[in-house]
Amino acid sequence: MIRLSFAALLLASALPAVAQSAPQPPVPRSAGTPYAARSLPDRIMLTPAADPSRGVAVSFRTDIAQAASEAQIAVAVDGPTLERQARTVSGQPGTRKDSANGPALYHQIRFTDLTPDTVYAYRLKGSAGWSEWLQFRTAATQAKPFRFLYLGDIQNGILTYASRVIRQAFHANGGIDLVLHAGDLAAQRDDLDHDDEWGEFNQAGGYNWSIVPQLPATGNHEYVDVTLPDGRESRALGPYFPLQFALPDNGAPGVQTTYFVDYQGVRFIIMDGTSAMDLGTMAAQTRWLDATLASSKATWNVVLFHQPVFTCARPDDTAEIKAAWKPIFDARRVDLVLQGHDHCYSRLTSEAGREASATARADGAVQGPVYVVSVTGSKMYGLNDRARTQPDKVAEATELYQVVDVDGDRLTFRTFTASGKLYDGFDMEKRADGNHLTDTTEPTIAIRTCTGAIGPDGGPCVARGK
Ligand SMILES: [Fe+2]
Repeated sequence: MIRLSFAALLLASALPAVAQSAPQPPVPRSAGTPYAARSLPDRIMLTPAADPSRGVAVSFRTDIAQAASEAQIAVAVDGPTLERQARTVSGQPGTRKDSANGPALYHQIRFTDLTPDTVYAYRLKGSAGWSEWLQFRTAATQAKPFRFLYLGDIQNGILTYASRVIRQAFHANGGIDLVLHAGDLAAQRDDLDHDDEWGEFNQAGGYNWSIVPQLPATGNHEYVDVTLPDGRESRALGPYFPLQFALPDNGAPGVQTTYFVDYQGVRFIIMDGTSAMDLGTMAAQTRWLDATLASSKATWNVVLFHQPVFTCARPDDTAEIKAAWKPIFDARRVDLVLQGHDHCYSRLTSEAGREASATARADGAVQGPVYVVSVTGSKMYGLNDRARTQPDKVAEATELYQVVDVDGDRLTFRTFTASGKLYDGFDMEKRADGNHLTDTTEPTIAIRTCTGAIGPDGGPCVARGK
């Protein structure tokens, strides 16, 4: 142990400020540091193939003793004999990632040639043996009723606060077939060690992430700041997102974070607003969006990305995205646009405002797309001026999840608060002339916004101005 003498301390304190390098505060760690890789697989994440009726992919992590990427898969039977029917599937050897939690290997395996609308069980190899068997269902090849969960930014308070929202969603709503993430799954700044954040993200979702296919969009926080060789500042996709999600390779040319999935009558199109605005891919993504909507044979088209067309927190809407993509959403009659980024809630059907939207509904007019912004984690932004009159419904300082039921020509959208109270909802019916909306007739709780400095639960308002 080094002890500085009193004289040395006096000398140090007398040095001019420029000679002392500013001490960097240590990046906080999760309490108890529980996230080192172990001898059994963890961080198990299921993602759909481009055709989710025939394939899924799984990503997982092991300690470095398990170099091979190995899985077994079987059509699920009801007795404890899965091993007998299982086939072994291998992937490329694991990719090493060193972190504050020590070294780890990330593995990805793609299950192909599966039978549609069938329950499978799979397990993954760690250095100490196999994981438990995990079950999922492949999609049907045609339209069939299903349910998906849509989550806004998890990002902050991932384990502390977002976990209860995710668990409430699954606990109170059986039969969730897909999960959509609108980006900013983790903060990846100085809030918390990044490996700990991804550990918390996996602990928050738990086994749900490994039995329900996940459709993530990238937010700005999936990107990290980098300095280019010529000295310019830029952004690059952080290392964890591509390790955690084995996504379909059917997106815009050169934009790996865009893709689409056809699922039982819905085409889900995932865009990357950060890449579009900061990395020069707007034109390529816009062309791809238009072509992917033009070729869709689905009853419903849902577009998912991070930065919202209509913002509920910021002074200005996301101008570049609004200019490039909104005309395509209108022309191609997109049904739902699901977004995050603003850490508030907004459901908006008419740029002209809530009254115009309600009048159109009452007159039986065709409506859509419906634009939704939502938030799961603990960071909250205050509503902007327009949010009081433009969206059909808003919330402030409220953690939420959304459950969407698709059944033929009918789509039911419901928004619940963290504790499971119905907050907002609407039905959308697709007729020959277009979409007809009706607000839910189920009782919803009172609007949740701050009143001055007081939050909707009493006490201080935790939503800060953006
Ligand atoms: Fe965010």
